[in-house]
Amino acid sequence: MQLLILGANSDAAGAVAAKFAATEKAGLYLASRDLDRLRNRAQDLAIRHQVNAEAIFFDATDYTSHQAFYQSLNPKPDGVVLAFGYLGDQELAQRDFAEAERIVAANFLGALSVLEVIAADFERRGHGFIVAFSSVAGERGRQSNYIYGAAKGALTVYLSGLRNRLHRRDVRVITVLPGFIRTKMTEQLNLPARLMAEPSEVAEDVYRAFRSGKDIVYTKWFWKWIMLVIKSIPEKVFKMLKL
Ligand SMILES: NC(=O)c1ccc[n+]([C@@H]2O[C@H](COP(=O)([O-])OP(=O)(O)OC[C@H]3O[C@@H](n4cnc5c(N)ncnc54)[C@H](OP(=O)(O)O)[C@@H]3O)[C@@H](O)[C@H]2O)c1
Repeated sequence: MQLLILGANSDAAGAVAAKFAATEKAGLYLASRDLDRLRNRAQDLAIRHQVNAEAIFFDATDYTSHQAFYQSLNPKPDGVVLAFGYLGDQELAQRDFAEAERIVAANFLGALSVLEVIAADFERRGHGFIVAFSSVAGERGRQSNYIYGAAKGALTVYLSGLRNRLHRRDVRVITVLPGFIRTKMTEQLNLPARLMAEPSEVAEDVYRAFRSGKDIVYTKWFWKWIMLVIKSIPEKVFKMLKL
């Protein structure tokens, strides 16, 4: 199996790459912007799991480069893990559109752009799978992060449509909905320890979903129930909460 990891410097992506390398002996294309970090990760995974791992430059928001980026991959991947994301600064984004644009670009437009290129190839070949990291933040808008949430919500809807389109070609699309993961994205935030997942736990959940044929996976599992409760709160009440 050859796996393309987009945003492969993400801590969660690193754990997923390790899981697929260990269990499937997957060859890895590790794609992201920080090539030094990526090369270290590639070297580490290659030695630890005795697989091929290659570091490749990829910028999710450089849309016009996506076609050439994908074309350069030989062999073509059997699966893609899309893990790049940008939490951004909600308050800054409220007063500075450039920050809002960065959030939407990194979390939604970049994913749309590159996944359309990949989907066309998988559709033509009738082969492949896509695992994409969205977020429970996309399930209901909250004042503390609704711009990031809106971008992730758009991504979740997009993935649902893509799954619907590719299903008849035997191409799977798995939507990953994490709650909180202990990564560099959340290290500055004060989040409840009991709700946090380690990247390795997320990787286990993703791999289990891959093996079992699930379409949507909440990680950790209890977020499915937390979000069910959050989504069921009437808007009249919800708008008065400080979330
Ligand atoms: N951590 C959480 O609690 C949490 C919760 C819900 C959802 N998620 C989502 O899960 C995914 C993984 O999260 P994480 O916490 O593991 O992330 P992370 O460790 O913060 O890493 C995110 C990575 O995204 C990459 N990235 C950002 N913009 C990019 C761009 N324009 N082009 C290419 N790469 C770009 C960065 O790569 P470079 O370092 O190479 O620049 C960065 O290493 C993200 O999509 C995130 O939104 C995370």
